[in-house]
Amino acid sequence: MTEPDDDRDRSVMTDLKRLIEIAQRFEQAPGRLTPLGERIQAHLGSDVLAAPILTEVVAAHRTVDLDVALEELADPCELLGVRGQNREHEGLEAMLSNQWAGYDVGAVDYTLLASGPKVRRRVVAFGLRLFAFEGEPVVVLQRVANRQHGREQAAMQVLAGDSATAEALVAAARRLMHERSVLRGQVLTLTPGGEYRVEGESVFVERETIPEEDVILPVGVLDTVRRHVLGIAEHRDVLLAAGRHLKRGVLLYGPPGTGKTLTVRHLVGAAEGTTVVLLTGPAIRFIGEATDLARGLQPALVVLEDIDLVAMDRGEFGPQPLLFAVLDALDGLDGDADVTFLMTTNRVDVLERALAQRPGRVDLAVDVPRPGPEERARLFALYARGLPLGDAVVRAAADRAEGTTASFAKELFRRAVLDAAMAHRPLADGDLGIALDGMLAGDAELTRSLLGVGGPDGSGDDEDE
Ligand SMILES: Nc1ncnc2c1ncn2[C@@H]1O[C@H](COP(=O)(O)OP(=O)(O)O)[C@@H](O)[C@H]1O
Ligand SMILES: [Mg+2]
Repeated sequence: MTEPDDDRDRSVMTDLKRLIEIAQRFEQAPGRLTPLGERIQAHLGSDVLAAPILTEVVAAHRTVDLDVALEELADPCELLGVRGQNREHEGLEAMLSNQWAGYDVGAVDYTLLASGPKVRRRVVAFGLRLFAFEGEPVVVLQRVANRQHGREQAAMQVLAGDSATAEALVAAARRLMHERSVLRGQVLTLTPGGEYRVEGESVFVERETIPEEDVILPVGVLDTVRRHVLGIAEHRDVLLAAGRHLKRGVLLYGPPGTGKTLTVRHLVGAAEGTTVVLLTGPAIRFIGEATDLARGLQPALVVLEDIDLVAMDRGEFGPQPLLFAVLDALDGLDGDADVTFLMTTNRVDVLERALAQRPGRVDLAVDVPRPGPEERARLFALYARGLPLGDAVVRAAADRAEGTTASFAKELFRRAVLDAAMAHRPLADGDLGIALDGMLAGDAELTRSLLGVGGPDGSGDDEDE
């Protein structure tokens, strides 16, 4: 370094020297505690800076479970808040000893988080629990994920006299998180994070009931799927006693609009008490989290919708495509796990090679075809329900709509109702034929393919099997 050559440089040097002196003063005072540190030391009864700190990260969608577990574990407990600078970026250790930020006891921060489809729970967002675990004084810092501060996951930090106690506490908390989980038996979806939503945060979905008779498929198809997904669960004791495995992989494939999603919704509704994790398209990359949830919260159903959209994507899964990660996750489950992987696709051709390379993962593949004449008649009758239309007219329309899908039938009746309403008159038999003419017309090519109109033989351009 050269000599300072003007006043400005000299002044900078002086400031720097002062800064170094201040820093050294703090370094020279090892073992000095913040007011918060003093408070914690009084509880712990031993040298708080010598005590080990065990940090356990918790997935954002388990935040409520963490709160439930700690509340039960730490009873009775003293709950303290923390105030001091920069606390979102600091760990427990700095809060005990960092003199600069002046950490002290403050108000406890709470937040409201969903604990069911319609309920929320007040959860400790940032707080310290001081209590005794197995007779030993312990301190747990509990904090939620905080996206604005780059914290994608919740966490607990455990301070105890020795690390064996801290480890036992974490294990006990994990056990309780499973046993008491608010996610158990619920329908959940994991979503990619948004600006205010944490990545992989769980969202509760209300369980709906779709009656069996509203799902119109060729005879035997729905039964086959129901038996495999629901029947195995109902007879789990017999199967296990006979040494048979419970876990299963089911693939529903067929053109768009034939009722694959509807079948899934029906099964979800019928599988009361089963934990369901729904992953659609890009969210399928949360397969790891979904499998963990399913394993911990059995019986469980993991739904992977439209898996062809991402099957060949390579992400954080190493060199292999996502579909292989999915199939390997299924393989990694114990055979006696009561877990179903239910996958749907419009493009089974995209999956075929991968499925052949991982045999045995999917034990039931079900073709969900375009409706034949008989199913079309039932579909038209279903969607004509409650409308003032003659049976013969509905049947004739069904005959004419050869090659169309179920979603076409649904849209046809909506259109007939809408056309009449826009003409300010009640729906009449003639409206159905007019709506059908419009929807079958050649000048609406895109609409035709969107609604799943195939060729006269019942095969469409979107049919790839
Ligand atoms: N087999 C079916 N029986 C009754 N309605 C159906 C059927 N298939 C489709 N629909 C109607 O069309 C809508 C879209 O079908 P969906 O199940 O989403 O098709 P996809 O096979 O593409 O998943 C459904 O919500 C339902 O109203
Ligand atoms: Mg679908």
